[in-house]
Amino acid sequence: MAFDIEMIKAVYERMPARVEAARKLVGRPLTLTEKILYSHLWEGTPTSTFERGKSYVDFAPDRVAMQDATAQMALLQFMQAGRPKVAVPSTVHCDHLIEAKVESKTDLSVAVNKNKEVYDFLSSVSDKYGLGFWKPGAGIIHQVVLENYAFPGGMMIGTDSHTVNAGGLGMIAIGVGGADACDVMAGLAWELKFPKLIGVKLTGKLNGWTSAKDVILKVAGILTVKGGTGAVVEYFGEGVTSMSCTGKGTIANMGAEIGATTSTFGYDESMARYLTSTGRADVVALADTIKEHLTADPEVYADPATYFDQVIEIDLDTLEPHLNGPFTPDLATPISQMKALAEKNGWPTKIEVGLIGSCTNSSYEDISRAASLARQVAVKGLKTKAEYTITPGSEQVRYTIERDGFIDTFESIGGKVFSNACGPCIGQWARPGAEKGEKNTIVHSFNRNFAKRADGNPNTYAFVGSPELVTALAIAGDLTFNPLTDYLTNEAGEQVKLDAPTGDELPTKGFAVEDAGYQAPAEDGSSVEVKVSPTSDRLQLLAPFSAWEGTDLLGLKLLIKAKGKCTTDHISMAGPWLKYRGHLDNISNNMLIGALNFANEKTDNVKNQLTGEYGPVPATQRAYKAVGIGTIVVGDSNYGEGSSREHAAMEPRHLGVRVVLVKSFARIHETNLKKQGMLAITFANEADYDLIQEDDSIDIIGLTTFAPSVQLQVVLNHADGSSDTIAVNHSYNDQQIEWFKAGGALNIIRANVAK
Ligand code: F3S
Repeated sequence: MAFDIEMIKAVYERMPARVEAARKLVGRPLTLTEKILYSHLWEGTPTSTFERGKSYVDFAPDRVAMQDATAQMALLQFMQAGRPKVAVPSTVHCDHLIEAKVESKTDLSVAVNKNKEVYDFLSSVSDKYGLGFWKPGAGIIHQVVLENYAFPGGMMIGTDSHTVNAGGLGMIAIGVGGADACDVMAGLAWELKFPKLIGVKLTGKLNGWTSAKDVILKVAGILTVKGGTGAVVEYFGEGVTSMSCTGKGTIANMGAEIGATTSTFGYDESMARYLTSTGRADVVALADTIKEHLTADPEVYADPATYFDQVIEIDLDTLEPHLNGPFTPDLATPISQMKALAEKNGWPTKIEVGLIGSCTNSSYEDISRAASLARQVAVKGLKTKAEYTITPGSEQVRYTIERDGFIDTFESIGGKVFSNACGPCIGQWARPGAEKGEKNTIVHSFNRNFAKRADGNPNTYAFVGSPELVTALAIAGDLTFNPLTDYLTNEAGEQVKLDAPTGDELPTKGFAVEDAGYQAPAEDGSSVEVKVSPTSDRLQLLAPFSAWEGTDLLGLKLLIKAKGKCTTDHISMAGPWLKYRGHLDNISNNMLIGALNFANEKTDNVKNQLTGEYGPVPATQRAYKAVGIGTIVVGDSNYGEGSSREHAAMEPRHLGVRVVLVKSFARIHETNLKKQGMLAITFANEADYDLIQEDDSIDIIGLTTFAPSVQLQVVLNHADGSSDTIAVNHSYNDQQIEWFKAGGALNIIRANVAK
């Protein structure tokens, strides 16, 4: 599976000089984040400094990783770019399309049959263009990347918002849309706004019931889902060095839930242990030679307030286990307060299912700590009250935990092992009875808990906690149970208390696996044929979007004014729609069907201004498109938060939406809209959101002189003949304005390759 040691060597060889140059230019000690960013500039050795939160910078990432749902569109786009091979080491991971229903083997074979066309496409494109291909069943992208490819000081992008997981191994790893992955695989620079820096100092040491998960659950409570936007979170302090590398991975993973660009940690012993244990002692040997560049300069952590834009301090000695939710990952509740809060809010307290594992928490340490609780069920004469499922992160983890007896332990308490895949974490959970929509509670160790995320039921109250807390709560079957203080009544009627979890950071016998599920690409892929059937309903070759017409946009109809939270799940729902990720026209039938229409408080029900009738959003939009009328989508704050899927930008583009006007954007979605040639703008005055009416025709003025930092004007022509003119902001730079004019970034790449 060949992690590219030569590439890592090259990164480490150039890093010292680049860090030194950056330090001189910046004129002060550097954070780790700055060291990694400045040593991955597209221009090479830095020649100028950048302003945090302002400058757009071109970077040269070392790697690209893609999961199967997003890889389809990314690779369809890459094929359009006209290159013979990927320019940087890249991998594809088949994890999102496997439904969790019966148990791992059955579910895997169903998925392999059902998704054959897609897997064959991804496998043949990988073979042809030089990408590593991880077959279905090999594991979840972020776990596989951590086990095989992540390295301290490296920079990678991935077409999934939890790519940030690799920050646990000291990378700057960032979730992007397929269009960005396409750029980097095509050998082009990758642009990012130079991030702000948040420092999190961890004092003390994890102990007892508290785990790394609780650190990020606490941070999410402090920063909220928006608090990390545009920032890299850098962790440091004694609490960090005493924590496992995979624990750091969990923290980095859920940095996505606070909107952070990514999170990272300085190279330390825990990383060296993990790299060695996963067969990469040669990376350790290399990293040890430039250790001082793989962490911040000492002055930084000694005086963090001077070097970070914001500093948070958490004392691990007193940190309590947390449960975050329901419906949002930043509603953080220490376990001791859950009982009172659940009663106050009327949350259902009977736990139906506890789910552990996923990309976020399926390390050997997580599983062994959860197993230490499962073992107590028999020892203490208990009976597990809730259902319990385990989703291993990779075949290597699954094989190893099976060898070490953990799977038997879980099965002895009624646990069900799902495939090494995303499953319930991404709505691919065929949960019996979910369609009834009953109010119920689940607890899981995943990262997200938006409504419908796990099982499609809007009335499932999902709470996020550590695998050990989830296991304890599944045993108790009660959300109000606090394992630190409360007793359970066992089958003999006795009061028993669970002992705090214990486990091993890494397997003492080492990791093992028979078939990790990796397929190397052909040496020479030029004769490999990639087939896409024109009659396929799952894959569709792309046609270029048309260029901007060169005029202001007049007479746009309001398609929908979305009220409240509008995540990429609302814009392009996951679950069953994942099937169409490679077919733009078919997946467009889910466009904005989850968004709440401000006018009638309904989802997927908007007024067609041409007929006056109400209907589904996609059908209404197709009616406008059929008669050549452009539309505008209006949204609230942090529009497009959640995943990196560019479908949420491509679908409106494909169906003829011209503009998205919101109070504020989530970073990845805003960039995705720009890449697809859409106009993404924000209210200069947020209160102007209220001026927009259901029957508005809207003009965008100022596009013929479209320039960075220059506001545009929007005229709202109301049905009663009155109008309002409002100012709107945008964050387009010169290059992004070219994308808009060309009708999308891909149109520019193709033209450049052809030159
Ligand atoms: Fe998969 Fe993403 Fe979870 S990679 S396991 S769905 S957050």
